[in-house]
Amino acid sequence: MNALELRNKYLNFFERHGHKVIPSAPLIPENDPSVLFNTAGMQPLVPYLLGQKHPEGTRLTDYQKCVRTVDIDEVGDNRHLTYFEMLGNWSLGDYFKEESITMSFEFLTKELEIPVDKLSVTCFGGNETIGKDEESASYWEKAGIPKERIYFLKDNWWIAGETGPCGSDTEIFYDTGKPKCSPECNPDCDCGKYVEIWNNVFMEFFKHEDGSITPLSQKNVDTGLGLERVNMLLQGKETPYDTEIFIDVMKKLEELEKQDDIYSRRVVAEHLRSSMMIICDGGRPSNLDRGYVLRRLIRRMIRHMNKLQIDLNELSNLIDLDIDVLKEMYPDLAKNREQIKQVLLEEKDKFVKTLAHGEREFEKEVNKLKTQGKDKIEGKVVFRLYDTYGFPPEVTGDLAKENNMTIDMEGFKALFKEHQEKSRAGSEQKFKGGLASTGEMETKYHTATHLLNAALKQVLGSHVHQRGSNITSERLRFDFSHDAKMTDEEKKATEDLINKWIEEAIPVEHFEMKKDEAISQGAEAMFIEKYGDIVSVYKIGDVSLELCGGPHVSNTSELGHFKIKKEESSSSGVRRIKAILE
Ligand code: ALA
Repeated sequence: MNALELRNKYLNFFERHGHKVIPSAPLIPENDPSVLFNTAGMQPLVPYLLGQKHPEGTRLTDYQKCVRTVDIDEVGDNRHLTYFEMLGNWSLGDYFKEESITMSFEFLTKELEIPVDKLSVTCFGGNETIGKDEESASYWEKAGIPKERIYFLKDNWWIAGETGPCGSDTEIFYDTGKPKCSPECNPDCDCGKYVEIWNNVFMEFFKHEDGSITPLSQKNVDTGLGLERVNMLLQGKETPYDTEIFIDVMKKLEELEKQDDIYSRRVVAEHLRSSMMIICDGGRPSNLDRGYVLRRLIRRMIRHMNKLQIDLNELSNLIDLDIDVLKEMYPDLAKNREQIKQVLLEEKDKFVKTLAHGEREFEKEVNKLKTQGKDKIEGKVVFRLYDTYGFPPEVTGDLAKENNMTIDMEGFKALFKEHQEKSRAGSEQKFKGGLASTGEMETKYHTATHLLNAALKQVLGSHVHQRGSNITSERLRFDFSHDAKMTDEEKKATEDLINKWIEEAIPVEHFEMKKDEAISQGAEAMFIEKYGDIVSVYKIGDVSLELCGGPHVSNTSELGHFKIKKEESSSSGVRRIKAILE
């Protein structure tokens, strides 16, 4: 059996048990800026777990494309993946523990023909408020799992993030047949004997921001089975890289490499698949959030291609090969082949340039440290490589590892923060200076800056955020996140929009409000975490809402005519506009 057959078996089984098969949501969550990527099958279903009616009914099943980024640095070992597929079945206030457990058992032992003695399970061990889940244990026993392979664990509780629907879970483990690492070895142990394959969450509670837990209006079941992992186990393979999902690319890399390194081959194969999937669902590399994750994946992949001494011109062929391997599982990959290639190859070219500079600098530093007998790269150096050469600290960390060195990540973080604060203080300082001498023109430019921020979002997209601002009586200067040169049409559209708002004579209103309230109303702010509980907010009709100390004109009609004089790159992923009011 291969992964696609496993997926189909799963969906068919649950369809036969009354579930509607729904499509995977895109990797990039729709209407949910709070998470970078879908990380579990339940994520797109949250409204329905909370009680909203799903058009397909109360029993659903699907495969969900997922990206989990916490493990990026682990990829290359034998099990961590950033992209994976989660098979799931849901009861939305329909069946609960008994039916869920019975179906899971039947699927594993009858459909997949896994011998019962390969399976162990864990159930919730209870805490101060919620009792031990003896009920689930009894269903497992009834199904055929002997008592001695049913374990109770305190942390069998599942929630996505900090707040939201949650509940106790029961996890199913596959015994690889390896010897126990100690007499106490059990599914809670990390030695590799037991591999978790499926998690059934009994979502009957909601966790609130204050930490309290209240019952949901309905009892749900949310399950997740890791496709790559189960596929690997069923094929008796040691790693997902030995299965059909990765094997062709792994072999090709071995053929192309001049330097043998299985770890690097895995990184390349894994990150190639992940980045293709993200790009296919609309992700683009940048220095922010999702874009930065994608950039890290691509850059790490390129670094490891370099380590293998593979000609980077081979990337295009590798993309073709990987799409051919995966297109039956993900037909969209083939449909978006050219775009995927273009994004990946452009990012590769960008990174190659950066690398050349940065690596020379890095080597100088390493040699210096070596002569000094040191093996830790100071945060200051890591920061300089980041700030001047665009070297992500993770890449510096990777390089350091290859030289048997470590990096001072804490030191880097401290400097990064200091840098952020400095630029903020700098802008406040300018602003204060501005305030003292705030003439009519500066005030107008201040308001025009808010309009520009809003207009760019409409013209270029919601990824646009302010990265810096500077105002004189002659002009405004505005830095914002966006990673392509603006076209003449985009510039014109931005100007037109602002001039339209000026003509509409929109009042500019000032409010003091609670920070939370401002955030929930979607207020823009550059350093939201730096503000106190009560914030000053400027609202320009429906056009703009920003945390800001002012001063501003009282009506947009006072601004005159807005014109962009220059649009240029400021730093990687950040553009700069200089504009005037005529
Ligand atoms: N949502 C559960 C998980 O991700 C099934 O493990």
